[in-house]
Amino acid sequence: MSGDLSHKNGRGDQRMTSLIDTFGRGHRDLRVSLTDRCTLRCTYCMPHDFAAWLPNESLLKTDELIEVIEVAVSQGIDEIRLTGGEPLLRPDIVEIVARINAIENPPLLSMTTNGLALAKLAEPLVNAGLRRINISLDTLDRDRFKQLTYRDRIDDVFAGIRAAKSAGLNPIKINSVLLRGVNDHEAVSLLKWALNEDLNLRFIEQMPLDAGGIWSRKDLITADEIFAELSKEFTLTPVEYRGSAPAEEFSIEGETMTVGIIGSVTRPFCAACDRIRLTSDGQLRACLFSMTETDLRSILRNSNSTEVEKREQLISAFHSTVKAKLPGHGINEPLFIQPSRPMSAIGG
Ligand SMILES: C[S@@+](CC[C@H](N)C(=O)[O-])C[C@H]1O[C@@H](n2cnc3c(N)ncnc32)[C@H](O)[C@@H]1O
Repeated sequence: MSGDLSHKNGRGDQRMTSLIDTFGRGHRDLRVSLTDRCTLRCTYCMPHDFAAWLPNESLLKTDELIEVIEVAVSQGIDEIRLTGGEPLLRPDIVEIVARINAIENPPLLSMTTNGLALAKLAEPLVNAGLRRINISLDTLDRDRFKQLTYRDRIDDVFAGIRAAKSAGLNPIKINSVLLRGVNDHEAVSLLKWALNEDLNLRFIEQMPLDAGGIWSRKDLITADEIFAELSKEFTLTPVEYRGSAPAEEFSIEGETMTVGIIGSVTRPFCAACDRIRLTSDGQLRACLFSMTETDLRSILRNSNSTEVEKREQLISAFHSTVKAKLPGHGINEPLFIQPSRPMSAIGG
């Protein structure tokens, strides 16, 4: 397929990647979790009384992080998404963005955030080289926001969205997870709001990645249901091209903006997956649902290795992780086992 990468990430150039798995999938996208801590407690992600935080000393220091990202870029990664936990909790977040941008052949840099700290940070982040942003917002209602996140901070999200706009971030994508009986009746109003605000909305099916074990297949709001609900008010037509992007995009009659539906559970897109993940404690994962991780932190902190040896070991760790990637996430297999780390500790 021609032009797939540039279509997906909006960049004109297409680089080769050497990170190819046994199913022929090339990997170009690294999701980097900067912390497992978060300013919200979204019920589908982390229980409100969660306390099993990673110890501080296990988190990659910024120099270690940059070393790993440089190696990843040298092997063909050309898109980095900073995430968490909440990436804006990292005190040196602006420096991290600037340093990633200073790498030779810098990757396209994006971030997924709850937006709470964007009012303060959007402009410095853009000045440091941030190009794309996804902001998570599941409801437009203050009380429901509080119910969903255990924090009364919806106004901070709206302020963050405004700041992201004035800093020139474009497109701004909004991630929404719908939960049955909680906010599933808001699909249409969220889309009307997003269109009005010139924001690119994407609904994400809830995945079994919560530490509280609240996920249940029977309560899942499926991609088909979301499509049906939106179709009551909008005429949606699938946008033909998708590439490796997780969202199925739909054009909306009478609008220039599209709406995305990410059917991670019921319409898995593993066959086109080009993503790998680095946890904040330096573990490389081939998939959100991997049961195994490759320990990069031990390589980085091995005082018996020279810098050259460490680099070679990191390169080989990237390749072995990708080579061991399974064909799919397995959520729909009878023997599926939920990973022990919640989404907040893997990086969404
Ligand atoms: C884990 S959060 C991390 C970044 C940031 N704190 C935020 O709120 O966007 C990234 C994305 O994952 C989504 N997410 C978290 N848990 C999920 C789950 N169990 N299923 C589907 N999406 C989930 C969130 O809604 C958010 O859009």
